[in-house]
Amino acid sequence: MTILVTGGSGYIGSHTVLALQEAGHDVVVMDNLSNSSEESLRRVAQLSGKPVPFHQVDLTDPEGLDRLFSAYDFTAVIHFAGLKAVGESASIPLEYYYRNVAGTINLLRAMDAHDVRSIVFSSSATVYGEHNPIPYIEKMEIGASNPYGRTKEQIEDILSDLSAADERWSVALLRYFNPVGAHPSGLIGEDPQGIPNNLVPYIAQVAVGRREKLMVFGGDYDTPDGTCLRDYIHVVDLAEGHLAALNHIASRTGAFRWNLGSGRGSSVLEVLKSFEQAVGRPLPYEITGRRQGDLPAFWADPSSALADLGWSTTRSLDEMCEDHWRWQKNNPNGYAS
Ligand code: NAD
Ligand code: UFG
Repeated sequence: MTILVTGGSGYIGSHTVLALQEAGHDVVVMDNLSNSSEESLRRVAQLSGKPVPFHQVDLTDPEGLDRLFSAYDFTAVIHFAGLKAVGESASIPLEYYYRNVAGTINLLRAMDAHDVRSIVFSSSATVYGEHNPIPYIEKMEIGASNPYGRTKEQIEDILSDLSAADERWSVALLRYFNPVGAHPSGLIGEDPQGIPNNLVPYIAQVAVGRREKLMVFGGDYDTPDGTCLRDYIHVVDLAEGHLAALNHIASRTGAFRWNLGSGRGSSVLEVLKSFEQAVGRPLPYEITGRRQGDLPAFWADPSSALADLGWSTTRSLDEMCEDHWRWQKNNPNGYAS
């Protein structure tokens, strides 16, 4: 199979490209490099021993997409490309709807025109919104509470409508929980630009001396230690989930949705403790006010992915932190180091 991976030089994309190559697939990456560098793909090639053909194309460029689809005979697309910061999406919603939703429509039109009708899409647990009980189950009614989440929800709707209208389409909607960690080689990992929005990249930068201390956003939630609970998932487990989904839809049509999570919630302080263990020393932190929009706790019910795909997470929180730390320690300034 020849798989097109959009956003393939990014964090989850690069780990998935490696997993695809290791499974024997031919992979082509397209990315506009707005939040990544080609260095990630050079490192993937170093690990797999196979080059990764790369094309710098933007989702908002239909001609560029058409040229790309004319140049290869793709079997399927794994679609990671998009903007992903929840806070930023509330300040520049139009950019989010344009890049994520209009960009995906361009991609789907190019796929349809070139007879490629299998897609695995990066959705998010954020689509479950504020009102669902935990753990989240795929059949729940979704309703995101921020523009970023609404772009994911709208793309899920577009893909579901498409598959309902045309039975040739195979669609996997993967709802990720909180991806962290890095490939155990320490060669590829998450390289956020500017101040990290997410917990583990922030802790990693504190550990490496790039930030003074972790601000724990809220210590007065109704949870065992007062800090929020999230379902952290190792990025290599997540990459393997994409392979499982791709294999599943290869022989089926229709739209499928799966949670990719561990089914277990960990608190901010538990994550910090696990990271401190990996580093071998305590890390400075301060409990501050709550961050607007944060939910106290959520985690996945991952039983559908196990039943349908035979997939479940195998890597622990300690492994996530050890692997994330190896990547950060070896690459203190990310791919620019
Ligand atoms: P990332 O930013 O590392 O990767 C996204 C890639 O898409 C980047 O390489 C970026 O340069 C590229 N890109 C952005 N806009 C583009 C455009 N218009 N055209 C072409 N390329 C474009 O992010 P990631 O963490 O690897 O996330 C991958 C996907 O998973 C995203 O769709 C994200 O919304 C989704 N997701 C991520 C998380 C998370 O916590 N990391 C959680 C749930 C869902
Ligand atoms: N946190 C801190 N300090 C920080 C950063 C985060 O205390 O500096 C806390 C947050 O308050 C939250 C927890 O750590 O309680 C996790 O926060 P993240 O920002 O790492 O993750 P979120 O659960 O808020 O959001 C992530 C992705 C979203 C996605 C969502 C659900 O960033 O894109 O998971 O999948 F939508």
